[in-house]
Amino acid sequence: MPKVKIAIIIGTTRAARFGHKPAKWIEQIAAQRGDLTTEVLDLRDYPMPFFDEVASNAWAASQNEVAQRWQKKVAEFDGYIVVTAEYNRGVPAALKNALDYAYPEWNKKAVAFVGYGSVGAARAIEHLRLSAIELQMAPIRTGVHIQGGDFLAVWKGDREIAELSYLKQNATDMLDQLVWWSGALQAARDQPVQAAA
Ligand SMILES: Cc1cc2nc3c(=O)[nH]c(=O)nc-3n(C[C@H](O)[C@H](O)[C@H](O)COP(=O)(O)O)c2cc1C
Repeated sequence: MPKVKIAIIIGTTRAARFGHKPAKWIEQIAAQRGDLTTEVLDLRDYPMPFFDEVASNAWAASQNEVAQRWQKKVAEFDGYIVVTAEYNRGVPAALKNALDYAYPEWNKKAVAFVGYGSVGAARAIEHLRLSAIELQMAPIRTGVHIQGGDFLAVWKGDREIAELSYLKQNATDMLDQLVWWSGALQAARDQPVQAAA
C-alpha cells in the first residue's frame, strides 16, 4: 500500500504560542513509521483575512491569493493532524478561519487531533469534530490530549512532552487509525456518492 500523505496543521499563530511544540513531537513520532509521510503546515505562513469571500469555495472560487495558496496546499494531502489549543472553550479563531477557507480540498479525507490545555483542548476538539463532518471529513476516534498539570509542566518548560510516556500509546493508536482511514478514503475518493436507485 502506498504511504499516505498527512499534513500536521499548527492551529495557533500568536507570537508566544506553544502549538509548534506538540506539532514537532507528533511529527517525530510519525517519522518512526513507514506507512505515512508528513509535512507541517504553519498557519502563520497563510495569513488569510477573516473570511471575506462571496461564498465558500464549495460554490465560488476564492479571490484572495493566500486563500488560493492555502487551498492548493490542503489539496495535496490524504489526511490531517490538527494540533490545537482551546481559546475560551472553543476553536482558536485562526484555525476555524483556515478550515472555512477550503471545502472540496477537505472532502473525503480523514482528520485526527492533538490538543493541549487544561483539559487537553477536549472541548475545542469536540467542536472541530462537528466542523469536520460538515466539511465531509472522517474525524477519527482516538485523540491525543496533553492536559492538566502535565500541560502546565511542559508549558513552563519543566518537562518535555516526550517524557509523558502514556501519550505515546495514544499517539500510536491515533496514527494507526488515521493511516487506515486515509488509505481507505484515498482508494474510494474518486467514486461518486450514488443516490439510491
Ligand atoms: C484567548 C485565550 C483563551 C484561552 N482559553 C482557554 C480555555 O478555554 N481552556 C484552556 O484549557 N486553556 C485556555 N487558554 C490557555 C491555553 O491553553 C494556553 O495559553 C495555550 O498555550 C494556548 O495555545 P497557544 O500557546 O498555542 O496559543 C486560553 C488562552 C488564550 C490565549
